Amino acid sequence: MTTPIRQSNGSMASGSDTSPVWIEPTGTFPVNRAPVIEARDLWKTYRNGTLEVDALRGVSFEIQSAEYVAIMGPSGSGKSTLMHILGCLDVPTSGSFRLAGEDASTMTEEELAHVRNKRIGFVFQQFNLLASLSAWRNVELPLLYAGVDRTERKRRALDSLERVGLESRVDHRPGELSGGQQQRVAIARALVTNPDLILADEPTGNLDSASAADVLHLLDELHVGGRTIVLITHDAEVAGAAQRTMRIRDGQILEAEMVGMAGTGR
Ligand SMILES: Nc1ncnc2c1ncn2[C@@H]1O[C@H](COP(=O)(O)OP(=O)(O)O)[C@@H](O)[C@H]1O
Ligand SMILES: [Mg+2]
Repeated sequence: MTTPIRQSNGSMASGSDTSPVWIEPTGTFPVNRAPVIEARDLWKTYRNGTLEVDALRGVSFEIQSAEYVAIMGPSGSGKSTLMHILGCLDVPTSGSFRLAGEDASTMTEEELAHVRNKRIGFVFQQFNLLASLSAWRNVELPLLYAGVDRTERKRRALDSLERVGLESRVDHRPGELSGGQQQRVAIARALVTNPDLILADEPTGNLDSASAADVLHLLDELHVGGRTIVLITHDAEVAGAAQRTMRIRDGQILEAEMVGMAGTGR
């Protein structure tokens, strides 16, 4: 198995004017490099006719490479709006958003689609797998969109499924897998492009508690392996799996606190 994690971090310099900043480990924190995410004074205003809703009101934060961060807030607090911006699915009304050094706040639809495919692995509450395709066919899809050739796609899809412990289920379709296994296929799909960021939106929301624990354990392993993970949730217990929690309410970040190092050393 290859270990492309380091390469992905190294490639961050390419889109940036400045070299990545290397901060030596302090003994408490993991090694930090250039931020994967730099959000500066993000505002998002939805306009429906004369009605305006400020879903994000001046949100600023950074997420460093190899961090595991939970974004937690109640319903209507702006989590999905923020996730859409972090995931390059939408742009802010104002403010700047840089992903791996590239300014995504002013990109066109086409540029956003490219960055999404190249830099982000998505994990959704509803798994979003294609029912007619086997596990490995689902996992290879992002590589298909990226124009990777067939042999390489299969090799990487199988490799990714092995990483999530599903090497014995590669030919199963989603309907032949448990919810927890389906979410692991989705995580394999998120990993297959070797993204800078894994963005998980309520990934345990549709799972029983044992499968949820399984998925959180897997995210934990990926974090320990050097991945950058952003976990969006309304659930404090789920957020507790991350290394750091940012609370969002009424479109503003309330506090950015360290909640211990639960995400490492297990
Ligand atoms: N497309 C939209 N048009 C108008 N208002 C919206 C739209 N999407 C979200 N909102 C409003 O923005 C606020 C934040 O929503 P959202 O980001 O979905 O929060 P969360 O994901 O935390 O539940 C809410 O008040 C919601 O009603
Ligand atoms: Mg939401």
